[in-house]
Amino acid sequence: RSNSRKSLGLSKPDQRFHQTSTQGPESPRFCLPACSPRRPACFRLSRTETVVVSENEKVRVPRHVAIIMDGNGRWARERGLARVEGHAEGARAVRDAVETAARIGVEYLTLYAFSVANWARPRGEVEALMRLLVDFAKKERSELRSLGIRVNVIGALEDLPTGTRHAVEDLIRYTADGEKMTLTLALSYGGRQDIVEAARALAVRARAGLVLPEEIDESFFHREMTTRTLPDVDLLIRTGGESRLSDFLLYEAAYAELVFLPIMWPDFKPTTLLESVELFSRKERRFGRTSDQVVRGEAAAFDPLDPAE
Ligand code: IPE
Ligand code: IPE
Ligand code: MG
Repeated sequence: RSNSRKSLGLSKPDQRFHQTSTQGPESPRFCLPACSPRRPACFRLSRTETVVVSENEKVRVPRHVAIIMDGNGRWARERGLARVEGHAEGARAVRDAVETAARIGVEYLTLYAFSVANWARPRGEVEALMRLLVDFAKKERSELRSLGIRVNVIGALEDLPTGTRHAVEDLIRYTADGEKMTLTLALSYGGRQDIVEAARALAVRARAGLVLPEEIDESFFHREMTTRTLPDVDLLIRTGGESRLSDFLLYEAAYAELVFLPIMWPDFKPTTLLESVELFSRKERRFGRTSDQVVRGEAAAFDPLDPAE
């Protein structure tokens, strides 16, 4: 167990901002399905988690993983490269993370690709990010479709330049039949903005007499948000060494397990995801109850995992 902490770079705070080693000799405790000689059984444990049975251990796989992919710029700077090259390398890490998530049975993967606040970056960098998004949409679409991955967007897609928006819309259409995993790209996304816009939409409907204030509860409210088709986040990972949410999924990650990693996003490897899932798997999720109640299987007072499907 302590090995796993060490390999994530969590045991030594002074290793922050250094490339760690998820590629070292230590391998995760469970295999990707394809590395196993016999495909491991994969079955639903509850409404929110699946279990991958590997050679010697059961691991609960979170149903919804969200990732703040931070550190591309610093990764490039450490190598004397332009920030844009860090973003290009980051796009390659996205590819691997998506494929790994689908293979281990994650049902929803949500990636913070571009925040509302990122519009404030230098114009050249914003343009490069938009171009990379178009490249990703065009180059990866066949692979995504063949893996059964459906692409979805949260945030304000309409704020993107026309060419980028069209490429993303094509990708959504092209992958619409995917049933294995939903890959959600957060684009021009802001958590507060999403909440405020939901409140405004409800206010408009209430004023028109279409909604009664007493009808508005958590799931009713969530149906007004761009995340309406997503269940609550189970595991939220941030790379780049910062321990903040930067306006990501403020409403949806209310009970998420948070994993902050010191590595920069381009260094995120399939094993990094597996190790984060292992960390998640060892957490006792109490949802307000005591540990004894959890062990006895008593229900929580509310169902924070209610999938808004
Ligand atoms: C994350 O990496 C990518 C985006 C925000 C689009 P950064 O570009 O924020 O990298 P750092 O944090 O400057 O290293
Ligand atoms: C968060 O990273 C946004 C994305 C990863 C898209 P930032 O680099 O923009 O976050 P801050 O500015 O450090 O909080
Ligand atoms: Mg950053």
